[in-house]
Amino acid sequence: MPYDELYPAGVGKAVVERTCVACHGPNFLPRRKWTEQSANAALDLMMNVSGGARERGMITPAMMSPADRQAALAYITSNFGADKPVRSTKVQEYPLDEKVLGRAMTLRDLTTHFLQDLSAGAVERKSLTSTAMGMSGSLGHTPVVDSNQNVWFTVIVGNKIGKWDRAAEKVVALYEPPTKNSYPYGVFVDKNDKLWFAEFAGCNITKFDPVSQDFTEYSPLTKPCQIRRLGMDSKGIVWFGIYSHGKLGKLDPSKAER
Ligand code: HEC
Repeated sequence: MPYDELYPAGVGKAVVERTCVACHGPNFLPRRKWTEQSANAALDLMMNVSGGARERGMITPAMMSPADRQAALAYITSNFGADKPVRSTKVQEYPLDEKVLGRAMTLRDLTTHFLQDLSAGAVERKSLTSTAMGMSGSLGHTPVVDSNQNVWFTVIVGNKIGKWDRAAEKVVALYEPPTKNSYPYGVFVDKNDKLWFAEFAGCNITKFDPVSQDFTEYSPLTKPCQIRRLGMDSKGIVWFGIYSHGKLGKLDPSKAER
């Protein structure tokens, strides 16, 4: 059904949209039947009321005042309560291209195997564990492959870029960017085998040259910020999503380096 019907106007709608919906998508709430108890438990979990190991809740106090929380609770229980049918927004039918789909599955499999390999290898396992991001159990993040079939990955908590040698089947190098606790996140390899990654907390777009082992950090115009992922177009322009501000950033490395 249409989004606006699923999410009728009301006190609490805006709070729910910028918290639950922003992270979980529009179909998370309407696919369950929420009671006051389960909605409160979810809010406690997301706000890390119990003060568990994850350090910070998914919802920080700055994101939700006590009044906001009351409004969110009322909105969730009255619109997605036990008396409401399970619903979702309309899902568009996409024509399936088997060639593309095949590639998607290969990538997914590579990620899973790679993560398993890493934990079996137990190389610097401690620095590769990223529990503080609420991703307990996941080690390396975002594996990418360079032209020599080396696998590179970011290590969010641990502040590293790592290199996995496929022939040796182990992590052979870890490099640390200049910014402390920068949370290296999305990464890609450009056509010259340079690595580009987003510093999630450091709020930089950073280039790593595997030959000279130099890092170059480019600061976006919006700072501080949180950046998750990035990519490069055919003209060498880096585009990145400033996750914390809903902005799309553009970096021309040829100009910034001049
Ligand atoms: C900043 C992103 C973020 C926001 C905001 C957020 N969540 Fe979550 N939520 C997560 C992540 C990541 C997980 C899984 C890891 C964890 O448990 O922290 C999760 C897990 C959950 C779970 C437990 C897993 C499950 O599927 O049952 C529930 C319930 C939940 N969220 C409900 C909510 C509700 C309700 C809101 C809005 C009031 C909300 N979340 C807001 C990111 C978020």
